[in-house]
Amino acid sequence: MRITNRTFTMIKPDAVAEGHTGAILDKIIKSGFRVIAMKYTRLTPEAAGSFYAVHKERSFYSSLVKYMSSGTIVAAILERENAVQDFRKLIGATDPAKAEEGTIRKLYARSIESNAVHGSDSDENAAIEGAFFFSALEMF
Ligand code: RTP
Ligand code: MG
Repeated sequence: MRITNRTFTMIKPDAVAEGHTGAILDKIIKSGFRVIAMKYTRLTPEAAGSFYAVHKERSFYSSLVKYMSSGTIVAAILERENAVQDFRKLIGATDPAKAEEGTIRKLYARSIESNAVHGSDSDENAAIEGAFFFSALEMF
């Protein structure tokens, strides 16, 4: 029950480097998401490749791995009713040119690749992705 109300997010290297971390977290928190666990960290190319392994056959995979390991990220587990779906709405479409006004990607993304934030696409992936960064003790 609790797991289905959680999602996982990363503030990606472009948004952290451009100083948008505070504004993005403020928007997330004001939208009613509670931060359960959060950390600044950096992905090695191996870890970025493993996190996005579902995309390994895609043409953009090597570029994505390079981008996601290029700098500091902020990883967080968020909790709210209907978390996965509503968080995807808050971040907007993958391509910021197609994202709705007021969404995080519309406001802060640079491009379809450097798109400021990650959001889990299912309850199952939210649990897997949270566990990628945090131990059980850190997300009770
Ligand atoms: P995410 O997993 O990061 O929340 O993004 P998403 O669901 O909106 O998009 P997804 O299809 O899962 O793609 C993962 C990330 O790969 C990069 N990408 N680049 N160059 C391209 O055409 C392209 N397409 C996707 C983006 O960083 C995207 O968020
Ligand atoms: Mg995705």
